[in-house]
Amino acid sequence: MYKKKYFSNQSLKDLNTFRIDVTAKKIIFVKTIQSLINISKTCQSSKIPYIILGEGSNILFLENYAGVVIINRIKGIKIIEKKDSWLLYVFSGERWHDLVKLTLNLGILGLENLALVPGCIGSAAIQNIGAYGLEFKDICQYVDVLSLKNNTYTRIKKKFCKFSYRNSIFKKKYNHEHAIIGVGIKLSKLWHPIIFSSLENYINPKNLTAYKIFNTICTIRKKKIPNPKNIGNAGSFFKNPVITKKKAQQLIRLYKIPNYPQKNGLIKISGGWLIEHCSLKNIQIGDATIHKQQMLVLINKKSATAQEILKLAKIIHRSILKKFNISLKPEIDFIGQLGKIEPSKIFKIKNY
Ligand code: FAD
Ligand code: EPU
Repeated sequence: MYKKKYFSNQSLKDLNTFRIDVTAKKIIFVKTIQSLINISKTCQSSKIPYIILGEGSNILFLENYAGVVIINRIKGIKIIEKKDSWLLYVFSGERWHDLVKLTLNLGILGLENLALVPGCIGSAAIQNIGAYGLEFKDICQYVDVLSLKNNTYTRIKKKFCKFSYRNSIFKKKYNHEHAIIGVGIKLSKLWHPIIFSSLENYINPKNLTAYKIFNTICTIRKKKIPNPKNIGNAGSFFKNPVITKKKAQQLIRLYKIPNYPQKNGLIKISGGWLIEHCSLKNIQIGDATIHKQQMLVLINKKSATAQEILKLAKIIHRSILKKFNISLKPEIDFIGQLGKIEPSKIFKIKNY
């Protein structure tokens, strides 16, 4: 059992990339699965809320957290060479970008398009991270999940992970009382470069190497998205809307919105473009504002509160709804005093 005196408020400012100055009752770094199990059991028996975080790069703490924040640092990478491929097992507390660099240095290619995405491996699976034409689901074989209720492990094969755009089964069914422990990744030895449309202007298709793609993407990303060490942010605050063809055609007839047809017939349109065309460029609420080079990214200029960020996000949401009749869906997770808060409790989420 945790005794009250065991608790002292501890700052979360350096553990969330928005750099919101909030506290948790206790912050514990875990390096082993056993310590994760022990802490979650103690919290359960003491009826204290707990939450697992990687690098805190996809969350917004709305207030002080009245429980234990468990920072996952369970690390380890195993690599097996097969005739045609590489099989990797990566524990969930490894940093994603470190894995991209490590594999590239070992001549294991295929992760380069996801360079510089912050966060840990476990969260990469939950979020199905994506950038420049590659998503986590494209290289995932399976995900290992631990139930913190009864300590049972389940290996979930890719086809049962329900991966979709910034979504997976780990956001719903396995959201509560579950921890991602590790993931299986398969990378083919036959390397195919992925040149997403937004890369075409930057990359010469001649003598293309994975290193060139890696370096180009790192350069573009550094220009567009601020480094959270200098300016607080959580990457894209909202997802790009994915709408029906009919709705997209109506909008495209009126405006030249960048759009990307999806395999399922729906159309993804640029949320950043929508924000840019809502006369919101210079809006600032306290220290919360929009990043000029990439409008899906909301930033904490210095000492913004979560309420300021939220107020800004709500204004953006309302403006887009009013002008384009599109309800933006947040990409990030919101965390209140006792745990995660459904975005639909904060924003009016409409389906198209
Ligand atoms: P956290 O924010 O720590 O956690 C996210 C959620 O997962 C929380 O709800 C947490 O409780 C839960 N969680 C974390 N670990 C576990 C675990 N082991 N078990 C169970 N639950 C867990 N995303 C993209 O997809 N593409 C991008 O290009 C991209 N660019 C970004 C750029 C910047 C500058 C920033 C700040 C963010 C960007 N993101 C991007 C978003 C973010 O990097 C990803 O969502 C990332 O996967 C979050 O990892 P994290 O470890 O920081 O997760
Ligand atoms: N655009 C604008 N204005 C903006 C932003 C974008 O007009 O402010 C238009 C431009 O035409 C641009 C196009 O949209 O060419 C695409 O922009 P960008 O390449 O920056 O990509 P994005 O769709 O805005 C998504 C992801 C990013 C990911 C990039 C790269 C989402 C919500 N965001 O952004 O992921 O890095 O693609 O592929 O899907 C994240 O998830 O946190 C994140 C940063």
